[in-house]
Amino acid sequence: MERVYIVPNHHLPVDICVIGCGAIGATIAREAEDIPDIETVYLTDRSQECAAKAEEKFSKVRYVADIVPILTKIRLVVEAASQDAARYYLPIALSAGVDVLIMSVGVLHDEEFQSDVFRLARRKDAKIFVPSGAIGGVDALSAARFEDIEEVVLTTTKPPSAFGEVQYLKSKGIEPLEIRVRTTFFEGTAKEAVRHFPQNINVAATIALAGVGFDRTRIRIICDPQVTTNEHHLQARGRFGEIDVVTRNAPSPRNPKTSYLAALSALSAIRKITGPTWIGA
Ligand SMILES: NC(=O)c1ccc[n+]([C@@H]2O[C@H](COP(=O)([O-])OP(=O)(O)OC[C@H]3O[C@@H](n4cnc5c(N)ncnc54)[C@H](O)[C@@H]3O)[C@@H](O)[C@H]2O)c1
Repeated sequence: MERVYIVPNHHLPVDICVIGCGAIGATIAREAEDIPDIETVYLTDRSQECAAKAEEKFSKVRYVADIVPILTKIRLVVEAASQDAARYYLPIALSAGVDVLIMSVGVLHDEEFQSDVFRLARRKDAKIFVPSGAIGGVDALSAARFEDIEEVVLTTTKPPSAFGEVQYLKSKGIEPLEIRVRTTFFEGTAKEAVRHFPQNINVAATIALAGVGFDRTRIRIICDPQVTTNEHHLQARGRFGEIDVVTRNAPSPRNPKTSYLAALSALSAIRKITGPTWIGA
């Protein structure tokens, strides 16, 4: 006898909330228009003007001054603002049992904050998603960690203009804009890199979290006046074999300090979380 399967239509579009309408948040607001699995994008920013503009431009965007009243209907909170915002909003969303996608990953180098939010997520049965952001190879590294990893080295090469104000360089009398030849600014652990280069650390933090942690991940930071991209070279060795991945990032059109791929990676993660398929899980 022929079998008849009745498949219920459970997969309904969901609402998400995005914190920050800068380079990453605005890209999400724009692209959400074409993602059928997303119904509404609640957007908040300490600059109300920026969020209100996005509301005018994109049909799915609704500005909210406070995310707490809407948390009950939210599938996912996306932090795309700053480490301060992550410190403030992660505990609020997780306490309500809502999953969080975090872009300001550097905040997780703070061991106390990291263990607090990881514990909270477990207790509330919520998830913290860390997208690969501006670097390729995170998926392979996080798989490789199931066996002994001997070494993880991340070499980041940026043009002088990408460094901005770095107190650590100032204290050494180094002015990036005066650099004329390829110069190594830093070599050390991810933990030290995070301390010395607080604005350039998201990728280092993601690699540390995916692989062997902040103490064993080695970071090299190079300033090169000849390059125009932010380049991340990930190398790892272990029982799995070797990883050797170079990502050359074009700057985001809205914020040259942010690699465009970071915004695209957030979008890709949102698609996986809200949609029915997950490629590269
Ligand atoms: N994971 C990665 O690979 C990766 C790559 C690039 C950037 N980032 C990080 O993602 C975050 C967003 O990047 P961006 O380029 O979109 O930044 P951006 O500066 O273009 O925009 C940030 C927006 O967030 C808002 N904001 C900041 N703090 C806030 C707060 N406490 N409450 C509410 N709104 C707040 C600002 O007003 C601004 O509109 C940054 O922390 C950045 O370091 C991560």
